[in-house]
Amino acid sequence: MSKQLAEKPLWWQTGVIYQIYPLSFADSNGDGYGDLPGILGKLDYLKWLGVTALWISPIHPSPLADYGYDVSDYKGIHPSFGTMEDFDRLLAACHQRGLKLILDFVPNHTSDQHPWFLESRSSRDNPKRNWYIWKNPGHHGEPPNNWLSVFGGRAWTWDETTKQYYCHSFLKEQPDLDWRNPEVQEAMLDVMRFWLAKGVDGFRVDALWHVRKDEQFRDNPLDPEYVEGEMSPYHQLIPAYSGGRPELHEIVGLMRQVTQEFRERVLIGEMYLPVEELVRYYGHESDSGIHLPYNFQLILLPWQAMDIFAGINTYEASLPAFAWPNWVLGNHDKPRVASRVGPEQAKIAALLLLTLRGTPTMYYGDEIGMEDVNVSDEEAHDPVAKAFPGIRLGRDPERTPMQWSAEPNAGFSTGEPWLPLAADYEEANVERQKQDAGSLLAFYRQLLELRHKEPALQIGRYLPAGQRRNVFAFVREHDETTLLIAVNLGGTRARLEIPRHMDVVGEVILGTDPARVGGKVREYVELGPNEGLIARVHPSEE
Ligand code: NOJ
Repeated sequence: MSKQLAEKPLWWQTGVIYQIYPLSFADSNGDGYGDLPGILGKLDYLKWLGVTALWISPIHPSPLADYGYDVSDYKGIHPSFGTMEDFDRLLAACHQRGLKLILDFVPNHTSDQHPWFLESRSSRDNPKRNWYIWKNPGHHGEPPNNWLSVFGGRAWTWDETTKQYYCHSFLKEQPDLDWRNPEVQEAMLDVMRFWLAKGVDGFRVDALWHVRKDEQFRDNPLDPEYVEGEMSPYHQLIPAYSGGRPELHEIVGLMRQVTQEFRERVLIGEMYLPVEELVRYYGHESDSGIHLPYNFQLILLPWQAMDIFAGINTYEASLPAFAWPNWVLGNHDKPRVASRVGPEQAKIAALLLLTLRGTPTMYYGDEIGMEDVNVSDEEAHDPVAKAFPGIRLGRDPERTPMQWSAEPNAGFSTGEPWLPLAADYEEANVERQKQDAGSLLAFYRQLLELRHKEPALQIGRYLPAGQRRNVFAFVREHDETTLLIAVNLGGTRARLEIPRHMDVVGEVILGTDPARVGGKVREYVELGPNEGLIARVHPSEE
């Protein structure tokens, strides 16, 4: 058992996180944008569903160049989302219901409208000049190095007034802070303290990997695997020097210390990294590093039994003994799970997310199988869609309004929603699925209920139990309880032998096909197309 579990497991280890994209969750005032009172009105739904914690994407004042990930006041609330009183009410209402609230913390960059940047760009000798990364041009006026912005073009923008370039890993409206500067560190750690002191239960730290750059600002090497026209131009270079530098661990350590000044808060890091690199951000022991460096494998791996099974096992094998695993199925930056794996596999994806070892993160609307909505170029809002027309990189399709009911605008708003609704919302919505025992929503709810009841699913060991063609199985084990989880990622019937040494008989306790519940499992599991199940197993007595 891991060190972190020597005592009672913490809420963020046994709990389930639900990500809310606040612009699209629930609109209380009919302006077409979701808001904090809207979220408050849906807490009973979230409680009913059975999640533990809400992570809300940024809600601070922002010109919304990147829809909130360009913050202009870290200690305020964007008027479109409500007021600080609305926030306090929401936090109190969450806590009253036993729900936790996690905020998005955006440390790498501010908005170019943040007073810090306005000062910084006003003159070379302004005291805030070195809060951001300013560099002289090359001999021919070119940018200081070859770094690219994730959102297209160079990572450097020329400032005519002060005749220097500033660095931005994302939009030019999102200048990068210089975290080498102790004043920046102090100011940003103070932001964390402000929200933690209010009672916020933790942070999802945005773009953490970008926070520390190379001391010498060396050029990034070319990436030989880049495919023009298919991949974002950012991938022309391997970002070896523009992020993930060794000094990043020091910054993580500072954030962790602040988090630990308060009780039971969680620090989650957004970093898209290969597993071996990712796990380094757990730090060296249980009180250093990030609690949960986000593990995006279920989003990134091909939806094939062999790849997913190998991905799970590699991750399990790479984790340091003290580290707590986590799994993410969707977010506001990637195509929706139902669109990635197909609606027929949506229950399988849910089953995996909620039975693998570690903290799961769900994305709003995935519980009803919301799919990517086709957003035309004219309707597009996301700056990424505008930067790369023609390549499907825009993120509006996975950010469309939550489908609550068959009412106008899916019950999301009485006004015109800021993004188009799914055409099928009259069928695919919460209200309808609540009444259908076979729906995806009902399945999510059953899974969440089982997970909360079964220590084996919360804190049990993980053991692989075999893979063949489209099927794989694993076991979760705690004290006397052994659960076998088997999934078929394909569309044809399949059978998997249970390894002989496991020598089990068992009974199905939950399945994508309710008719299987109560059925026996012995020596092998037989699965229909797109079928998955959980069986409670015992050593065979024969
Ligand atoms: C990652 C966020 O998830 C994404 O939405 C945002 O655009 C970038 N970081 C920049 O903050």
